[in-house]
Order: sequence, then C-alpha cells, then structure tokens
Amino acid sequence: MKKKALRIGVLTGGGDCPGLNAAIRAVSKSLMINCSAEIIGIHDGFLGLIEQRTKKLNYADCSGILSQGGTILGTNNSASPFNFKGKDVSTEVMDYYLSLGLDGLVVIGGDGTLSIAYEMSKLGMNIVGIPKTIDNDLMGTDRTFGFDTAIGIVTEALDRLRTTGQSHKRVMILETMGRYAGWIALHAGIAGGADVIIIPEFAYDIDEVAKACQSRMGEQHYSIVVVAEGAKQAGGTLTVRETNEFGSDPIRLGGVANVLKMQLEQKIDAEIRATTLGHIQRGGSPSAYDRIFATNLGCYAASLVANQHFGTVVVLKNNQLCSTSLKNVADKSRLVTTESPALASALSMGICFGNADLIPELHSLKHEIPGSVGNHWPRTKA
Ligand code: F6P
Repeated sequence: MKKKALRIGVLTGGGDCPGLNAAIRAVSKSLMINCSAEIIGIHDGFLGLIEQRTKKLNYADCSGILSQGGTILGTNNSASPFNFKGKDVSTEVMDYYLSLGLDGLVVIGGDGTLSIAYEMSKLGMNIVGIPKTIDNDLMGTDRTFGFDTAIGIVTEALDRLRTTGQSHKRVMILETMGRYAGWIALHAGIAGGADVIIIPEFAYDIDEVAKACQSRMGEQHYSIVVVAEGAKQAGGTLTVRETNEFGSDPIRLGGVANVLKMQLEQKIDAEIRATTLGHIQRGGSPSAYDRIFATNLGCYAASLVANQHFGTVVVLKNNQLCSTSLKNVADKSRLVTTESPALASALSMGICFGNADLIPELHSLKHEIPGSVGNHWPRTKA
C-alpha cells in the first residue's frame, strides 16, 4: 500500500527578522524533495490558526525568496491562543489544527512564539521549532538567525555616526533593539569601535558614563556610545515606548538614548546627539551568514519532522546543529553574563559599561590547548 504523504504546516511568529524566508524555503523544499510532503503555510503566526487563515505552499512559492527580508507568510507578535483579546481560545485552535489534517507544524519564532508552541504541544500539537530573532536571546541555542544581519546594520550605522561625530566633536549615542538582552549592543558596539556600551544586564551609573565620555572627548574629541533599549540606570526604570495589555509581550521598549542624552547633558560640557535605529535593524535582506544558517536550521528541522521528533527545537551548540526540547527554551531568555567572551574582550579593550563592578581584565583561560605546555600565551617550546 502506498504510504500517505506528509502534510506539514509552517508558521512564522513574533517580530520578523532577516532570514525567515530562507528558513521557510529550506524546511518546505527539503520536506517536498525528500518526503513528497504537502506544505500548508499559516498566515501571521498563531493569529492565522486563531482566525483560520492558511494557504498551500507550492515549490514555486518557496523559490526566489532566499534573499528577501520579512516573511512571505506574515507574522504577529501579540496574538496568543491563550490570551486572545482576553480569552483562552487554545481549544478552538487545537480543533482547527486537527481539522487541517496536519502531521506536524514547524514554528519559526523567538521565545514568545516558542513558549506558545510549547503550551500547544502539551495539548497535542506535533511541533518542531526553529529559533529566530535579531535579539539572539533564545535559551538553549548559541545563536539565532537574524542577529548577524542586525549587528551588520548597527555596525554600519556606527561607522556613519563616527565620521559625523568626529567632524563636529560630539558625543554620539546610538540606541539598539534587543529587548532585555544586550547582545546586539555588545557585538555591534565592539564591531563599531564604541567607547561606551550600555546593556540591560548591568545597570549603569551616569557618573561612570560621563567620566568615560569626558575622557574620550579629551583624547579623541568625540565619543561613541551604544545603548541597548532595555538598559536602565541603577535604581531606575525601563524606558517604555508603549504597552499592549494582551498577548505574550505587553511592553515595547524605546527612547532610552534620549533619556541618556538628557542625563549626560547635566554632567558634561559637550554637544550630544541621540539616534534610535529602531526597525531598520529588522528590515531588508539577510546577510550571507543568516541565509546559510537559516537554511541549515530549516533542513535540520525537516529531518526532525520526517523522523517524528516532535516537541523539539533545532539549536546550535558549540558550532553543531542538534535539537533540544521545547520545554528547555520556553519562557526563558539567554542574557549576557560576566562569562560571555565578548564582554571580556570589550572590557579588556577598555570599553566602558557604565558599571564600576565590571573591571577590565584579560580573558580567564579555561581550556588547555592540546599539546601545549601549560595554559599560557604566548606558548613557549618545551
Ligand atoms: O524581538 C525583536 C524586537 O525587534 C525587539 O528587539 C524589540 O524590542 C521588539 O521586537 C519591537 O517590537 P515591535 O515590532 O512590536 O515594535
């Protein structure tokens, strides 16, 4: 008897990011080619399952989209089946999923979407997750796609702010996205040669920031400050742009660069300008790295689906693709810690984090180099 072909749903949820189409293309084509699967695209993340909006994806729909930003399926970062306009509609969503006759659902999302996916998997949905977000803050994976493109955009912005800041001898402040994680600010700050990087994980002391800016103004006559949107002053509060009482993430951050500008103006004698990059960080074409990474994640997810390893997420660990359970990524975030190598490099380069507890030091060497004598650099002959 001929085996029934797989019928697999695909959705993209949460904030969009470059590489979503590369992931849709990879998982869909890989399942079509290797399993003759039928692919059902769900519109606008979990909202499409709530409002029953789907469309069959053909091979042609998944072609020519690799380099496109955004998502051909649409997305939504506020609709949750567990709190849709104040109502729990998860049972109706589960019924609709069953009525579609799906063997499984591939959910491409960040922590909010994958947390919803975990809850739906407990109700019986066969889910495989693929991690995406420019914030790079998903637990269980060393990296998410979208991040590389975002830090490329922020780095280019910093290069541009440097030339104008240098010409006018100003303090230039750039605000990045990232929610409660400082990965974008930290990595782009290093790539863009920032003098000060302020991230949510370490509350800032305005006097420390002022001291660093003042000293850079003296030495090089301008100063570059990168501040993550989730940063706050010691004893202070988050700068909130807007709130939305329903959905998985009720707070939208934004505006801290202007707060910092006003605080610094009270402390130093220099012209200061603040720039907020906002959604420019999320738009446009994915970098080559993100195209390859999203393709690898999509193909790996296809093999998890084909092997019926549901309730899982594809992750990158120590440069290897593998899977972990949805439970391990749901309702958690991965933040910058004092153990993060990028933070150690930044500190040892003298970059100020506005926090006196973070002391510049050399990396602590954790791994013996096989065949070397001792754990020292430079290595010497035995
Ligand atoms: O999670 C991605 C992200 O871009 C965050 O960095 C940012 O805080 C948030 O989404 C912005 O959300 P919205 O697109 O709803 O303004």
